[in-house]
Amino acid sequence: MINFNINRDIFLSEYQNSRPFFQKKSFDFSITDEQIDEIILRSDVLDDDFKLNYKGKVLPKEKYIDGFQDIGKFRYKLNKAAFVSYMRNGATVIANKIYNEPLIYKFHNEVEKYTGRPALSSLYISYGGYNDSSFRSHWDTRDVFVMQLKGKKLWRLHKPNYELPLPTQQSKDMEHIVTCPKTNPDFEFLLEEGDLLYVPRGWWHDPVPCGERTVHLSVGTYGVYRNDFLIWLINEELPNHLESRKYLNSFNSHDNLEDYAELIKQLLLDKNLLKKFNVQHALKHFRSNDNLHINSLCNPSVNKLDLDKQISLNLFHKVEDLNSDLIANGILLKVDKRPDMEKIIKFIVNHSNVKVEEILSEFSYLDVEYVQDMLFKLACYDFIKVN
Ligand SMILES: [Fe+2]
Repeated sequence: MINFNINRDIFLSEYQNSRPFFQKKSFDFSITDEQIDEIILRSDVLDDDFKLNYKGKVLPKEKYIDGFQDIGKFRYKLNKAAFVSYMRNGATVIANKIYNEPLIYKFHNEVEKYTGRPALSSLYISYGGYNDSSFRSHWDTRDVFVMQLKGKKLWRLHKPNYELPLPTQQSKDMEHIVTCPKTNPDFEFLLEEGDLLYVPRGWWHDPVPCGERTVHLSVGTYGVYRNDFLIWLINEELPNHLESRKYLNSFNSHDNLEDYAELIKQLLLDKNLLKKFNVQHALKHFRSNDNLHINSLCNPSVNKLDLDKQISLNLFHKVEDLNSDLIANGILLKVDKRPDMEKIIKFIVNHSNVKVEEILSEFSYLDVEYVQDMLFKLACYDFIKVN
């Protein structure tokens, strides 16, 4: 559905983390005004992830939401008059971290597959003019795929002058150290309906409305930092070593930490530990946004998938990345002792959205019941996605 127009391997080696790219007419997507309204209405307006930005600042909640007693339960909702007034005066409404919106997930899932990273999707709507920037120039601490769904928006980008900021290093908190260059932007893109812009973390940007409605989806992707591995070592591995448990001598700097430093270096360079960390991290962090299929999977009288159902894997990594360990939705599946299963999974990886009947045909030398039973169980454990 999205035409990234850059081969995935080239994106990963030449663009991801390092330089932006812009793609005209990258996707064909229709979203109605009613569907946009529904996404906003289903958002939790009280949550910090729902925001109204106005004149470069996030508005306090009391400016645009009201609480009321809703038949025995206190609830909050948008104060419509206030919301309308701010929006008419150039504010931007942001629904951050959108969950359970199938329309949005179509894009979200494609970006996750393309980048191999988990993503977060946010919707931005504004009616402002060129002078109504709701944001000051800032950097994001995640890589972002911007998809213009309606109208236009102007994006001016400056190269990073503080490379690869971490999530704790928001540009607004670091203005005493670094600010956006006053020079002309390194890139300027006018995004129109169907256009895609990739902005790596750390690139300064100030998206500006163009005096007409603008609706864009921002899909941010999150990689694993080197620091995450070091923190994991500190918590999980270093306490097993005497060197890490020793006291520092108080009030002097004459401690000899060479043995401790050597130990940390050894652990950091231990490939088995890195693999162990990657597996644990993937189990803990990566979840897919799956459909439920209650009537197929929960019905005790059904124990196989329909032949015309399409299947794809909920894996976040390539099969060869973790050898025999496959991880999806918090489950580790070891396939090294199950060669038939490994072959079927590789086949599904290489044929996304393959039909059940095609799998049965490809593996016709195996018992049909065995293959059907395996696919059904993989679906129940959320290892495969059924469409
Ligand atoms: Fe941003």
